[in-house]
Amino acid sequence: MAGTKTFEVAPSAARLTGSLRDIGYDFPTAVADLVDNSITAGSSRVNVYTQFEPNGSYVLISDDGSGMTETGLIEALRFGSRRDYQTNELGRFGLGLKTGSFSQCRKLTVVTRTSPKQRVIRVMTLDLNRIARTDRWDITANESSPAIERAKGFLRESPGTVVVWEDLDRVLPERYAENGWGRRRLRTLAAKTSEHLAMVFHRFIAGDVAGRGEVVICVDDEKLRPWDPFAPEEGERTVLSEQVFEVEAEGGSSEVRFRGVVLPSRDRFSSLEEFERLSGPLKWNRQQGLYIYRANRLVQHGGWSGLRGIDEHMKLARASIDFDTDLDEAFQINVAKMSVELPPAVRQMLERPVQELCVLADDAYRRSANTGGRTGSNGKPSKASETALRDVGIAIKAAMLDGTSLPEFRAAIATLRERNPELAEQLDL
Ligand SMILES: Nc1ncnc2c1ncn2[C@@H]1O[C@H](COP(=O)(O)OP(=O)(O)O)[C@@H](O)[C@H]1O
Ligand SMILES: [Mg+2]
Repeated sequence: MAGTKTFEVAPSAARLTGSLRDIGYDFPTAVADLVDNSITAGSSRVNVYTQFEPNGSYVLISDDGSGMTETGLIEALRFGSRRDYQTNELGRFGLGLKTGSFSQCRKLTVVTRTSPKQRVIRVMTLDLNRIARTDRWDITANESSPAIERAKGFLRESPGTVVVWEDLDRVLPERYAENGWGRRRLRTLAAKTSEHLAMVFHRFIAGDVAGRGEVVICVDDEKLRPWDPFAPEEGERTVLSEQVFEVEAEGGSSEVRFRGVVLPSRDRFSSLEEFERLSGPLKWNRQQGLYIYRANRLVQHGGWSGLRGIDEHMKLARASIDFDTDLDEAFQINVAKMSVELPPAVRQMLERPVQELCVLADDAYRRSANTGGRTGSNGKPSKASETALRDVGIAIKAAMLDGTSLPEFRAAIATLRERNPELAEQLDL
């Protein structure tokens, strides 16, 4: 409105940077947000190093991506980087680099080089101690420290970006910064980070993302093996057919894809080691449920998002939900990319397929509990044909569930049991 008097009230840099440290990251999720940036920059290799040094520990996250120009680097260090995003880029808020880093450390340095021809390596630092002193959003160029020099060394041969975290006050509080406890703590966090990255980026690591090759991720020189919650190598899974839902998005509609999988029970897994490995960070029971992928990057791993409760009988049930970044608002993705909400329309559409999946998972669970007692002797079918008959039973149930309501389904099974009890038992209906 003409003549309206305005006052610019710029936020206090010192206060705001302090409060933005606590928006819900932990060490592994903060590192994962930086790996997002590396993947978006087209990297095929990402290395995470955790280095313990008495009173000088640091973390490096290095990649071989596109690197940044000087203006790009300055913009990258702005809280709320100004830029446009393509569909399915992993970034969104222009915050992750800063908020993720400062959730763990007080000094963030970005070292970057853009191309093999450009030998210049740029170094810019955002330091919370300086900001607290000056109360200004300033960054400084060309700082130096052993960690920064090591980072520059990585880029001497080839381009890419290295993010350096120093003054790790949240990781190693001062009184622990130089003793054995600190060393062990950093090692434990590195192990947790490996586990987290192997899970959230499993499709990228395995080369399952269309249009891009495998991304190698190493933590302290150890190459990560992808942790795929759906155990694609296992032969005894039941994979339900994919369901696709159209959901309204900004400027049109977008697809949400759902696929349920019943994992093999312990006795049907290829080996006990694989069964234990597939258990996941929170173990079988709490890893049941929905695995929600935003542009192929996992943002929720397990749980039923309020559709139902965790239940021991459903522990073999897992399902993937895929959405594209044009549904970010509908899914209410948060800055730390650690939580999403199912949009009400999706929630409604998922009720039935989730229920079907759980019926089959319950079945597989009960069957595994029974297996011990069956020997295949006394003229009954042999163990092998028993297994085959039960598989036929599962296939019948999966097919029936595709076209009937749950009460109808239960009634049909009851009729079959009544008419043909022996066969029903053999088919495990
Ligand atoms: N490893 C990297 N390689 C190239 N560019 C990067 C890298 N990390 C960050 N950037 C640039 O910095 C910007 C800000 O990153 P960030 O704060 O994580 O926000 P967002 O990822 O949501 O855009 C990115 O959009 C990108 O342009
Ligand atoms: Mg980012």
